[in-house]
Amino acid sequence: MQKTLKKILIAGIFAGISVNILAANTVNLTAANTNIFDKKSLQNGAYLFMNNCSGCHSISFMRYNRLGKDLGIADSEVRENLMFNASKIGSQIISSMPQEGAVRWFGATPPDLSLSARSRGTDWIYTYLHSFYSDPKALFGVNNKLIENVSMPDVLWHLKQSKSPQDFDKDVRDITNFLDYVSEPAKLIRINLGYKVLGFLLILLILAYLLKKEYWKDVKYGKWRAKK
Ligand code: HEC
Repeated sequence: MQKTLKKILIAGIFAGISVNILAANTVNLTAANTNIFDKKSLQNGAYLFMNNCSGCHSISFMRYNRLGKDLGIADSEVRENLMFNASKIGSQIISSMPQEGAVRWFGATPPDLSLSARSRGTDWIYTYLHSFYSDPKALFGVNNKLIENVSMPDVLWHLKQSKSPQDFDKDVRDITNFLDYVSEPAKLIRINLGYKVLGFLLILLILAYLLKKEYWKDVKYGKWRAKK
């Protein structure tokens, strides 16, 4: 019985290892190193996203006014610089591209990116936006190392041409950072709250320790006797 168990365990370990090896992507992801508390980065990311991506991609879980409030952008500025597909500040951020047309033009509907930073991870998005390469056989003359036969054009190509590599990296990082924020806006509050809660627990720990010392003082010095 024990032998069979052992065999099953060993087989399981090997199966786990081989699955891991098979699942390993051949492309190494580059660390995005985003910082969700960097407001400037999020603002630039929002601006770049709305100008370069929102024509095709929706982020339907986000609304314009929430975005303005969280990122410290005034409503008037949101209307002027970020709202291209909607007239109401309370609207969801939805691309104006018709679904049917998208399939005809690109062969695929551009996915909603509301949760992509969660499902794919920020490193994946950062690497993906860096991984377009020219391929004359592909639909738009470009392909991507992370999605074979990709149906998205290299939309940041003009940015890459007009900037230094460092500035381009920063822009891609800002877009990735923005998508990270979009995928969980509460992160801004959650992490700060976490520190406060930990601080509170620390103070409570000190008080509880002092109280314990006070209670045990008598026991320690033998003043306390159990009632008979
Ligand atoms: C011209 C339309 C178009 C524009 C503009 C565009 N995309 Fe895309 N994008 C697509 C299409 C179509 C796909 C689906 C690709 C596929 O699966 O082959 C896609 C896929 C993606 C994916 C992968 C999603 C997933 O999880 O599979 C990400 C991330 C992405 N786009 C980000 C962006 C960002 C960021 C921008 C702006 C810098 C942008 N896209 C601009 C059309 C577009």
